[in-house]
Amino acid sequence: MTRRLQGKRVIFTGGVTNIGREVVELFQAEGARMVVADIDRDAGRALAEALGDGVNFVHVDVTDEDSVRRMIEAGVETLGGLDVLCQNAGAQRSGKVTEFAAEDWDMLFRVNARAHFFGAKYAVPHLRKAGKGAIVNTSSLAGQRGGGGMTAYSATKGAVIAFSTALAIELAPDNIRVNTICPGWVDTPFNKPAIDFMGGRGNQDDIVARTVPLGRQAHPSEMAPLFVYLASDESSYMTAQAITIDGGVYN
Ligand SMILES: NC(=O)c1ccc[n+]([C@@H]2O[C@H](COP(=O)([O-])OP(=O)(O)OC[C@H]3O[C@@H](n4cnc5c(N)ncnc54)[C@H](O)[C@@H]3O)[C@@H](O)[C@H]2O)c1
Repeated sequence: MTRRLQGKRVIFTGGVTNIGREVVELFQAEGARMVVADIDRDAGRALAEALGDGVNFVHVDVTDEDSVRRMIEAGVETLGGLDVLCQNAGAQRSGKVTEFAAEDWDMLFRVNARAHFFGAKYAVPHLRKAGKGAIVNTSSLAGQRGGGGMTAYSATKGAVIAFSTALAIELAPDNIRVNTICPGWVDTPFNKPAIDFMGGRGNQDDIVARTVPLGRQAHPSEMAPLFVYLASDESSYMTAQAITIDGGVYN
């Protein structure tokens, strides 16, 4: 059977833990060759060692333009070109708007939103050289629908959707597709700030049971097949979409 990402050359940010790691493992199984980039050096090196063949690690701080430029250059050199850019690195903070620190607001925008601009800026020339390409950006249900305590995070994730949609239109003539994945509750430590804001895991479980039609959070592995679909040629006629994967909340 043909593997769905056979020979695809992929740069993947935020790929060493949780959702990203599940995606990277499925990408590898589907035949992709990858440069995984993250701020967490130890986890990145451990990932490359554990997965081996076709999975390399480079350090990046996505808040730093030069670091992103170097990540793309190193990735293209290692892979011999570029077919797919996945931008999954992210950060979360929660708090009431009246108590929220400007530094946290700015940090979230740098990690969650501005980084997507840097990635596109430096990756697009290489995707153009390949004659076609796919960019898959990670947003959130929070970017489509509000939640108390999430004003800053929601604003950054809404920005990712708006940016990606505009980028998709700009790049459509180059046959470079841009789509956005919007996960709902995925059970990872990433949500600790939101869980603390809600008053603890017990309260979060109650909220999930009441508001998620499927009645539970996702396991990170449940996100991975959608990434494969959007990165592969199977989605060749799909661009400028924000696709929600949230157990039915956004309907
Ligand atoms: N867990 C959820 O419920 C959920 C829901 C919706 C969207 N998301 C999004 O999914 C993505 C992955 O989330 P996760 O739950 O797997 O969390 P995670 O914390 O495991 O993944 C985030 C990754 O980004 C990396 N990162 C953070 N700052 C960085 C920086 N400055 N430079 C480079 N890398 C950096 C982290 O080291 C980590 O590997 C995030 O973009 C998040 O916003 C998660």
